[in-house]
Amino acid sequence: MCGIIGYAGHRPAVPIIVEGLKRLEYRGYDSAGVTFAQHDELHVIRAEGKLCELETRLNGQDMFHATTALGHTRWATHGLPVERNAHPHRDPGGRLALVHNGIIENYQPLRKRLKDKGRTFFSDTDSEVLVQLIAELWTSDITLREAFSKALAQVEGTYAAALLNLDEPNKIWAARKSSPLLLGVGVGENFVASDIPAFLGYTRDVVFLEDGELVELEPFSWQVFDAATLEPLEKKVHHITWDFQAAQKGGYRHFMLKEIFEQPAVIANCLAGRVDGKALSVTLPELESLPVPAQIQIVACGTSYHAGLWGQHLLESWAKIPVRVEIASEFRYRNPLFMPDDLVLAISQSGETADTLAGMRLAKEHGVPVLGLCNVLGSSVTREADGVIYTQAGPEISVASTKAMCSQLVLLTLLALYWGRRKGTLAREVETSIITGLLGLPQVLEAELPRLRGTAQELASEYSTANSFFYLGRGPAYPLALEGALKLKEISYIHAEGYAAGEMKHGPIALIEPEFPTFALALNDALLPKVVSNLVEVQARNGRVIALCQSGFELTVDHAWEVPQVYGPLNSFLALPALQLFAYEMAVYLGKDVDQPRNLAKSVTVE
Ligand code: AGP
Repeated sequence: MCGIIGYAGHRPAVPIIVEGLKRLEYRGYDSAGVTFAQHDELHVIRAEGKLCELETRLNGQDMFHATTALGHTRWATHGLPVERNAHPHRDPGGRLALVHNGIIENYQPLRKRLKDKGRTFFSDTDSEVLVQLIAELWTSDITLREAFSKALAQVEGTYAAALLNLDEPNKIWAARKSSPLLLGVGVGENFVASDIPAFLGYTRDVVFLEDGELVELEPFSWQVFDAATLEPLEKKVHHITWDFQAAQKGGYRHFMLKEIFEQPAVIANCLAGRVDGKALSVTLPELESLPVPAQIQIVACGTSYHAGLWGQHLLESWAKIPVRVEIASEFRYRNPLFMPDDLVLAISQSGETADTLAGMRLAKEHGVPVLGLCNVLGSSVTREADGVIYTQAGPEISVASTKAMCSQLVLLTLLALYWGRRKGTLAREVETSIITGLLGLPQVLEAELPRLRGTAQELASEYSTANSFFYLGRGPAYPLALEGALKLKEISYIHAEGYAAGEMKHGPIALIEPEFPTFALALNDALLPKVVSNLVEVQARNGRVIALCQSGFELTVDHAWEVPQVYGPLNSFLALPALQLFAYEMAVYLGKDVDQPRNLAKSVTVE
């Protein structure tokens, strides 16, 4: 996620902006920049890489007379993380400078329309389109506030945007839609920022902007408007008592919890620009030029491997494409066989996992095209793959991967829909049901997460003494069982085994006893009766059972943990956070270091 900070006040603004950007570093970024007006010029200074690069660029700059400025840390979504794509972006006339966080889904048609009017672009970003659109619409008969409003009305997608104007150098205009933006209200100074830590050192009085609101602020005043009608709005000023660390986690105790609760927004971001809610269709421009693969070999590690196993079910049943899913560290040493028209799909949140990269390179040595499914722009996977599709989940700070897997499942669903549509193997009513279900998921999950957490807390106190856990599932729920076991292992250090439920009879059931409980995925699908019979066998041996289930099916287990019914395999998007929250609450109950578990790294860049 990008970071935005703006300051209008009585102090030299640029040092405050740089300090605020440092407070937003936890959000992850790959370039940064500032803008300020001085000596009748709107200066824009940007740098690729970390903030120290920007500070080097700022050294020696004459900037201490500027008491209003904007700053931005960029987490690249459109356009590589290079200086020309860094924010702020200026209009060619040099009178406006803008920073933006979000995704402008219709930036290409807007860009074309502006280019057709003779406008020249200097970056590959969607954000530059917005500042150029404002400049285009800002005619002499309207105010900048009105031009900003008119431009936002033409934008589809998400934004938190802030704007400077050389003609009114002590003012800042800002607006939000689905990307966080808030005001810091000081004495003779005001702030706008993506998150509270950016200005917490100067004020604890905060105004939260809502979607569709626009603010105009200067050192001694601020006013919020309805972005469409420009009607002035009354807003409440909240007093924040958090410390810095709590503020970086948005008030959550751990980044892992914050990222679990970000999953509704992650699903929405993943779908943005890829799903047409009216036509109920999927477009993946990244893949238009690629043929539909005859076979897919998925290569990944850990959680990403589990996502691949889950995606196999959808790709094979909806797109009728044979899929092999390989643990990268095995694949790279096995001399795998490739067929003509194979595609290797490398799934990696970080894009830096050594075994996954090695698997990709092996495929490329055999002339097999590689598609990267990745969360980090500019990472090694994205640079070495022949094509890339981004999960757009924002930076994942917690070592235990949560929202990244959610975004991987969304993209695998979209791949199965997209290739199924191209091959004509997917019935239209199934396609429309899935897409409708996907579009409704963020709201369902947003409502359900607090309840899921409450149940996870109750179960954690009861099961925290367990020495081992079985996680059982069948079909698409089998990879979820593997993932649930991995989460429990890696943050609570309790031994856990994920198993295909049908495998229990082939040996593992010998381990069942009350101190070795079972966590079952007993979701409403065709395999549920089989799972139920497995659970009967477990209970016949005094094994305790927690079963994630859905309404409409009576289960006699120790804890029936009900999640809402959604279409088909989309129930995984409700089961996954339940598994994550159970592991999280167990680890918290046991006093473990949730965000930085022992022995683990966020990205395994060595073998
Ligand atoms: C997940 O919770 C683990 N931290 C780990 O298994 C991780 O998924 C694995 O190392 C793969 O990482 P990647 O997705 O960045 O390639």
